[in-house]
Order: sequence, then structure tokens, then C-alpha cells
Amino acid sequence: MTQVAAPELDASSALAFRALLTEPGRRLLDELRDLAPERELAAATRLRRDHPPELVSAAIGQARLRQRAAAKFGAEAERMYFTPDGVEQATRAPVAEWRARRLAALGARRVADLCCGIGGDALALAGAGIEVLAVDRSPLACAVAEANAAALGLSDRVTVRCAAVEDTDVSGHDAVFVDPARRRTGGGRIFAPEAYSPPLSWAVALAGRVPHAALKIAPGVPHEAIPAEAEAEWVSHRGEVKEAVLWFGTGAAHPVRATLLPGGHTLTGRARPAPAGPPGRYLYEPDGAVIRSHLVADVAERVNGRLLDPEIAYITSDEAHPTPFATAYEITDVLPFHVKRLRALLRERDVGTVTVKKRGSAVTPETLLKQLKPKGSARATVFLTRVANAPTMLLARPATDPPG
Ligand SMILES: C[S@@+](CC[C@H](N)C(=O)[O-])C[C@H]1O[C@@H](n2cnc3c(N)ncnc32)[C@H](O)[C@@H]1O
Repeated sequence: MTQVAAPELDASSALAFRALLTEPGRRLLDELRDLAPERELAAATRLRRDHPPELVSAAIGQARLRQRAAAKFGAEAERMYFTPDGVEQATRAPVAEWRARRLAALGARRVADLCCGIGGDALALAGAGIEVLAVDRSPLACAVAEANAAALGLSDRVTVRCAAVEDTDVSGHDAVFVDPARRRTGGGRIFAPEAYSPPLSWAVALAGRVPHAALKIAPGVPHEAIPAEAEAEWVSHRGEVKEAVLWFGTGAAHPVRATLLPGGHTLTGRARPAPAGPPGRYLYEPDGAVIRSHLVADVAERVNGRLLDPEIAYITSDEAHPTPFATAYEITDVLPFHVKRLRALLRERDVGTVTVKKRGSAVTPETLLKQLKPKGSARATVFLTRVANAPTMLLARPATDPPG
């Protein structure tokens, strides 16, 4: 792996970071493995007796970041390096691996990862056997990405280049991946795709110059902003929508896709309205990726169902059809929105643990729970929604639960 250039942005932090890669730095990091927060102060005092204070602070900071990063990188986080921004912005490993596998399946062998950050995606691409040019304008991010490639034994497949992506020549690469910065300096998310760094229009223009491209965007992107030639994929991990990706050069027959990880269940289709009708025996709550991709009608069809309300993404059906794309509940009661009636019903059923879910209702779960003050040994889920536009409460239990 080679580092090709280094602009002067955060070069001094990159220098400080590199101290952690020296033998004393590595030893300190080893000593700090599994350090509980309450033991940090004592450890710092002890270690400062034999090591420079800046190195001890850097190592303690890095140990903390590794612990935070475990949620995204699992056990490998212990061997990796991070920056506070890098942990926040990195793609979690299962999502990056999914994308890398898709690129590899398209035949991509050399990919330019533009805006590589600490290397979350670059590492997954290299792990999928792809040769990666990883580019970022932050010298610190580049130093960390380089250290991560080395830590995971992927250096021979990753070249880190510290540069503006706008100045990067991608010729010779069969795919580009762009994960633009979508946060303002000092915090706060950027929603407008043209305010990303680099802007989405720049990335879309670049996508037209290579055989394949994947551009990561915010999951809330309006469908109108999706270029006609792209396939838009929404990806969730353990039920939480993590990202949307615009794919170019996939030959996809459908414009939208919902992918659910870790299972790898993927649904393609075309956004279309679903029929609506009265509540049946089951309520299906579609995964967020299905909702964002506007594929609720496809899932409704799979469970032989209909929407409770034409504007709301709750499906109902008279039949039980296990599907990875929605969580099924068995409806026990349907009542108009009326807190007193619900309180009486919960008391009658001895329900003390209530999960409140809502779509199309202004009432917050916290407010409702305070009003209900449920007491009892049974559990129930309350859906606050509209049925044929009327504010409605549905009492339900997970369809997998034995009847109570
Ligand atoms: C969302 S992060 C990338 C995270 C990365 N995919 C990962 O999984 O670790 C975006 C990165 O883009 C970089 N960046 C933003 N604008 C850039 C530009 N014009 N040229 C190069 N890098 C840029 C930032 O320094 C930041 O590290």
C-alpha cells in the first residue's frame, strides 16, 4: 500500500495519530484493551509515569473509540483505529460487506472508494477480493485508513491517496463508490444532496464515466431526486434503515430495492399504491427499508393483504404468511382512539407491559404510556394509527407468541 500525496488539512493530528502505531503506542493500546471507564483515570495516572502524557491521552482516546466502534465492526474493532468523526460516519461492516459483494458480483475488480474516511468501505471491498484506491482529503482519515488496512492484513489490496476526490483520475477502475460527507462542521446532518461534499450531481456525473457505480445517500432522500438511470437500494440492519445507495450500471430491471441485513433478504420492484381495507386477523409492520423504497404494495401482495389506510404503511391480512420483510402481529382488539377505553381494556386483560407503535397519529408513545399507567403481568402491543382515516387503536401480540 502506498500513500500518494498529503495536503495540509489536519496533518498535525495525523502525526499525533501515527505515534500510536509505534511500538510504545501499540503496547499502550494493548494494555488499555477492555479498560472499564471507571478505571480510566487510575490507568492514565499510572501510565503517565513511564510514557509521554500526549501518547497516553491518545491511547486512552483510541481505546474508547474502539469500544464504541464494536457496534459497527464487531470484534475486529479491537484491532482497528478510529477518529471520533470516523466512528460516526463509517459504514457498519455488514452493510459495507453487502455492498462489496454486490460490486464483486457485478465483476468489479478495481474500485475507487472516493471519500474513504477511516476505511469502513475500503476494507470491506478489499475483503471481497477487490483492489481498492481509497481517497480522502483528510490526512488524518488517510493515516487511519492506511493503519486499518495494515491491521486487517489487507494492505496489498488497498492504496490510500490523500487528495480531493474531484482531482482523482478514476480511469482504469471498473467501479467507483462514493460516500460523501453529510455532516456540517460542528455537528448536524445535511439533507440536501447538493450540499453533500462532494455534491450528488458531481457523483452522478462521475458514475456515467465508469462501468459501475454505487453512491451512498441519506435514506430520507426524496424519490424525485433519484436519477432515472439508477437503481435505488435502501438497506436496513436489524430493522434499522442505515443507508440508501444509488446503483449505476447494474442492468437492474427495477428502479427500487429493499435489502434487509443480516439475512440478506432483498426485494426489488416499482413503487406503486396498495389496496386498502378493514382490519383482518393480522397486522404486518413492514421493515423500514421496504417503507423507504415504497415497496409496501409488494409485501402486501405477498401476505395476501391490504393497507389499513391508503396513506399509512401498516398492512393487514386475514392470513398468516411469515415474511422477512415485515413483522407480523395478531390483532386482538380494534377500537377507536379513546384512552379511557384502552386503559379499561388493558386492565381487563391484566396487561402491565405495553409497547406502543404508531404511524399516522400525533400522540407520542411516552404521553400515552403516562396516561395509561398499565399494571399487570401480561404484555401487549398497541398500534396508534388510522383506519380508513379514523384515529384507531389496535391491540396486538407478536404473531409468533403462543395465544395468551
Ligand atoms: C461519510 S465519510 C466516509 C466514511 C467511509 N465510507 C467509511 O465507511 O469509513 C466522508 C468522508 O469524505 C471526506 N470528504 C468530503 N469531501 C471530500 C472531497 N471533496 N474530497 C475528498 N474527501 C472528501 C471526508 O473527509 C470524510 O472522511
